[in-house]
Amino acid sequence: VPRRGTVRRPIWSAATARATIAARHLRTDAWWVQPLITVVVLLLFVAYSTFRAFQNAYYFSEPYISPFYSPCITTQCEGDTFPKLFTGPSWISPAIYILIVPLGFRLTCYYYRKAYYRSFWLSPPACAVGEPHGKYSGETRFPLVFQNVHRYFFYLGLVFNVILTYDAVVAFRDETGAWGHMGLGTLILLVNAALLWLYSLSCHSCRHIFGGRLNHFSRHPVRYRLWTAVSKLNVRHMQLAWISLVGVALTDLYIYLLAADVITDVRFF
Ligand code: FES
Repeated sequence: VPRRGTVRRPIWSAATARATIAARHLRTDAWWVQPLITVVVLLLFVAYSTFRAFQNAYYFSEPYISPFYSPCITTQCEGDTFPKLFTGPSWISPAIYILIVPLGFRLTCYYYRKAYYRSFWLSPPACAVGEPHGKYSGETRFPLVFQNVHRYFFYLGLVFNVILTYDAVVAFRDETGAWGHMGLGTLILLVNAALLWLYSLSCHSCRHIFGGRLNHFSRHPVRYRLWTAVSKLNVRHMQLAWISLVGVALTDLYIYLLAADVITDVRFF
C-alpha cells in the first residue's frame, strides 16, 4: 500500500488507452466472418419466429405442440397439453405472451450480449479491431443496465423448460390418450427439451447460483460438486446457445409442417 502522498498516477489513462495506429486494425485473418454469421443466423431466427408468433395457427398436431406456443393459453387454443394457467382472447396469439421469457432470457444472456454487441453494434466487431463509437459506458447506464435482470429470466426460463419437458413426456400418448406412442415428433420434442435444459444449466448465472459468494468450497461439498458439474457445461455455453436456438426453430418447423398437412409424422410404435 503506497504511503500517503506517494500515490502514483496509473499507467493507463484515457489519454493513453488506445495506441495511435492509423489503420483500423492490423489483423490479416477473416475476423469479419464470425460477426457476419451471427448477424445472418440471428436475423433469420428473428424473421422466422416473428412470422410464426403472429401466424397464430398450425402449432398443434396431436399429440405435439410447438415450443413457441406452449403452454397454450388462449380460449380457443388448439393445444391441450400443459394445463392452461390463464386464458387470453383467441385473437391474440399465445406465442406473443410466451416468447417474452425466452426472448428476454436470450437477449440478456452473457454470451448473446457479446455476440450481438460485436456483430450488430460493432462494439468492437472483433478483438483488436477498432470500433466506430467514440464513447464507451459499458452496461452501466440506461438501457443496458437492464441486462442485469438476466438472473430473473433464468428462473423464468426454468419454468418453461419444465413445461416443454412435460410436453415431450405427454407426446408418448397417442390420439386416444393411451400411453405407448412414439413418433419422430416425440424424439424431436425430447431433444429440444434436453437442449434447452443444457443451455439453461450452462448459464453463467446458474454457475454463480451454485458456486458464487462462497469463501470455502470445503465447507460446502454439495454446492462444490454441483458447481463443478455446471462449470463443465459452462465452457460449452456458446455452442449450447446456438444449438438450442436452432433446435427450437426446427422443432417448431416440424410441428408447423405436420399441422399444415405438408408432411406426416414418422411413427416408430
Ligand atoms: Fe447465457 Fe445465462 S449466460 S443463458
